[in-house]
Amino acid sequence: MADRIRTGIVGATGYSGVALLEVLVRHPHVELQFATTRQPDLAGEYVHREHPNLLGLTDLKFSLYEPSSSAFAKTNEIILKQAQACDVTFVCVPSGASVNIAKDLMGHNTRIIDTSADFRLRDPARYKEFYGLDHPFPHLLKEYVYGLPELHREEIRKAKYVACPGCNATAMILAAYPLTKLDIFPNLRIVFDIMAGSSEAGAEPTRASHHPERSGVARPYAVKEHRHLAEVRQELGLKSDCVGATMFAIPMVRGVECIGHVFPEKMVDEKDLWKAYRTAYGSEPFVRIRARKTGGPGSLPDVKYVRGSNYCDVGFFLDEDRGRIGVISALDNIIKGDVGNAVQSMNLMLGLDETTRLGDMVPSYLFE
Ligand SMILES: NC(=O)c1ccc[n+]([C@@H]2O[C@H](COP(=O)([O-])OP(=O)(O)OC[C@H]3O[C@@H](n4cnc5c(N)ncnc54)[C@H](OP(=O)(O)O)[C@@H]3O)[C@@H](O)[C@H]2O)c1
Repeated sequence: MADRIRTGIVGATGYSGVALLEVLVRHPHVELQFATTRQPDLAGEYVHREHPNLLGLTDLKFSLYEPSSSAFAKTNEIILKQAQACDVTFVCVPSGASVNIAKDLMGHNTRIIDTSADFRLRDPARYKEFYGLDHPFPHLLKEYVYGLPELHREEIRKAKYVACPGCNATAMILAAYPLTKLDIFPNLRIVFDIMAGSSEAGAEPTRASHHPERSGVARPYAVKEHRHLAEVRQELGLKSDCVGATMFAIPMVRGVECIGHVFPEKMVDEKDLWKAYRTAYGSEPFVRIRARKTGGPGSLPDVKYVRGSNYCDVGFFLDEDRGRIGVISALDNIIKGDVGNAVQSMNLMLGLDETTRLGDMVPSYLFE
């Protein structure tokens, strides 16, 4: 590994891009070499022009990279060469756009960490089903490791290419994963309710994300299927009729609060649940277990206590009278649901302590 890890970000004007800048400008081993945009009027401007919170923290300027336009062939070539030569390129663009960028970067020096969904699913048929597109490079899917360290740590260490999980997928998988170690599995059926913050939808406004439409609501959407369920089924090894979810848009900018309901054929003991969660996460640096019966703040996972950090808090409860197990998780969609997994993966890929920089991000209690 070089003394300094040469990195760059493709898609640095968006929410993932700015969150990654926030983390990387204070990463002790990272040298940020480029941050791209397709917007000609931002090219050559300091990144703090677009992201005012970064004033005084970095002198980095935006570079123009618009691979779909031949009008920018010369500048595209410069960035492409720089990205191909660096140690790690983070690709933070919408699903569907990422795939073409990654293809131009693969096969060169750079490792790639992609925050989109373009390389998360091993089966291209699922990509078509959930993203409505024929995957243009299905043969490349097997080259990517799913970037969730809690499930794939050793594969990530050896990987050159990593596809980071979706934010809701991270919340669902980490909430339910310990159940796969109990004998109620594999006949597990689980339905999640997910309360999601508005930043999940990215920086591009839509009617649904516009403040007057979104503020003060608890609005159900994607009530039966959500794209991230494809990842949950893949990672937990469950069939589609065994995992469902209903999403709620709530008035919160950052955060995912997730609860899964399970009605097992045979009920489990609370001590079995504790054992399963402790076995799965007892030595995980960024997963904390909260499952106190006392009630009140902090007894179960709550977005308020993870926001601004790379923690995913998980917990559970038993509803014996109805034969139900509730599993709960909370995370910051932009950190543990996105660039936190990306940086944790980068640390692993480069042989660093995986908590480097991320361990400094203490949840911000009165944030928001
Ligand atoms: N937001 C979340 O909570 C979250 C969580 C997990 C994963 N992700 C994933 O991370 C990726 C980025 O999400 P985001 O929330 O940052 O989105 P965003 O705020 O909409 O930002 C998208 C970025 O990509 C660039 N871009 C847009 N269309 C492009 C195209 N066709 N070709 C090249 N660049 C393009 C945009 O910049 P310019 O217009 O300046 O070029 C912008 O920098 C997505 O794939 C998303 O699914 C997001």
